[in-house]
Amino acid sequence: MTLRISVIGTGYLGATHAACMAELGYEVIGLDVDTAKLEALAAGVLPFHEPGLPELLRKHVASGHLRFTDSYAEVAAGADIHFITVGTPQRADSQSADMSYVDGSVDSLLEHITGEALIVGKSTVPVGTARRLSEKIAQSAKQGSDIALAWNPEFLREGFAVQDTLRPDRLVYGLQDGRGLELLRKVYAPILALDTPEIATDLETAELVKVAANAFLATKISFINAFAEVTETVGGDIKVLADAIGHDKRIGRRFLNAGVGFGGGCLPKDIRALQARVSELGLSQTMGFLAEVDQINLRRRDRVVSLASHMLGNELAGKQVCVLGVTFKPDSDDVRDSPALDIAVRLYNEGAEVSVYDPEGNANAARRFPRLNYVDSCKEAAQKADLTLVLTEWNEFREMNPSDLADVVASKQLIDGRNVLDRPEWRKQGWTITGPGEYFEL
Ligand code: UGA
Repeated sequence: MTLRISVIGTGYLGATHAACMAELGYEVIGLDVDTAKLEALAAGVLPFHEPGLPELLRKHVASGHLRFTDSYAEVAAGADIHFITVGTPQRADSQSADMSYVDGSVDSLLEHITGEALIVGKSTVPVGTARRLSEKIAQSAKQGSDIALAWNPEFLREGFAVQDTLRPDRLVYGLQDGRGLELLRKVYAPILALDTPEIATDLETAELVKVAANAFLATKISFINAFAEVTETVGGDIKVLADAIGHDKRIGRRFLNAGVGFGGGCLPKDIRALQARVSELGLSQTMGFLAEVDQINLRRRDRVVSLASHMLGNELAGKQVCVLGVTFKPDSDDVRDSPALDIAVRLYNEGAEVSVYDPEGNANAARRFPRLNYVDSCKEAAQKADLTLVLTEWNEFREMNPSDLADVVASKQLIDGRNVLDRPEWRKQGWTITGPGEYFEL
């Protein structure tokens, strides 16, 4: 019999997981409380940018393998495995994660499940959550039902979500007394057949694997950015330094790109939530280094704002600034905690006229900060610019030629915030260009 799967929460993670489960051949129902989002998804329209996902969504909505609902009763009756993929955003009043959506979705499932079911958490949660939820299930499940809980964290990257879901580096399941293992192996059989490493462990380890991975990645980025602060002061080439240490296989070159720092909906909130959680556990010093990681990361933005101000004669008021890129990374329209957007807004707040172009991010950025001047091309953004900043490394910007902008700018000055331009070439064509990691006397 075809596996019947529900995916609770059709945001970024849920929409991807639902479409990918349909691609594996299962009957999938996606649930969300946002009916406008459901209507869009049911019409095959994705409310965010993710390469390859709209095609998959349309294919499986059309095939009938994938449908959407806002009814927990329908989901409980129509699926045997329920993946929880709701958000765990940072709380407004603290660094910890808001667990209300996770708890709310489990409560709603428990009200309706009457038979045998497996609930599989995928959301990123503070360690101890799954254990707490399993106690809730034991206490509140309907009489006659038989519900197991597993934790199966997700490691997908925006921009590569489909690939990361269908060909992950590993599958991790946290289990209680081994319950649910057989069913999870059935769900992931096509992926396991690709020799994907499988790690079956306990609930706590599975929860921690996720936050440990993100904390490590964030630390790696801040590590190289800390060295960028050094080379900015004494000289040296941060890219050569990263290449050289990256050749050591124990270190590896990936996630060693110095720049404006990390942002997005995951790394910043996850390192903060982890610190909050270990403090709750009485280990207030244990993750202290993550506060440093966060601080180093935020200083990257200060550095670019200072550089910009310096290059504009320490007076931003009335200056025309061109910002290329506002998303937190390329191939995404996500501007959550985006260093690029933060820098653009800070330049605006200090009095600059800021024109912004991003291949996908303009609309989301404009919703948050309508007062920047959003335009449709690099050339338009660079009109009469006294300074140009490249803040997200979209291919379109990497491939830009210095002569493309030379005729329209007021001054050939550029900050290469992601270290992706051929600086010698730009200099040859008369530009003053600098960026993270480069010595520049302020
Ligand atoms: C991150 C993790 O990479 C995923 O494995 C994880 O599943 C996901 O969070 C999540 O928890 O859901 P994502 O937020 O899509 O994925 O973005 P990354 O590709 O990790 O990039 C994060 C930030 O770090 C971006 O702002 C990027 O520009 C920055 N970065 C990355 C650097 O500044 N330097 C680098 O060398 C690499």
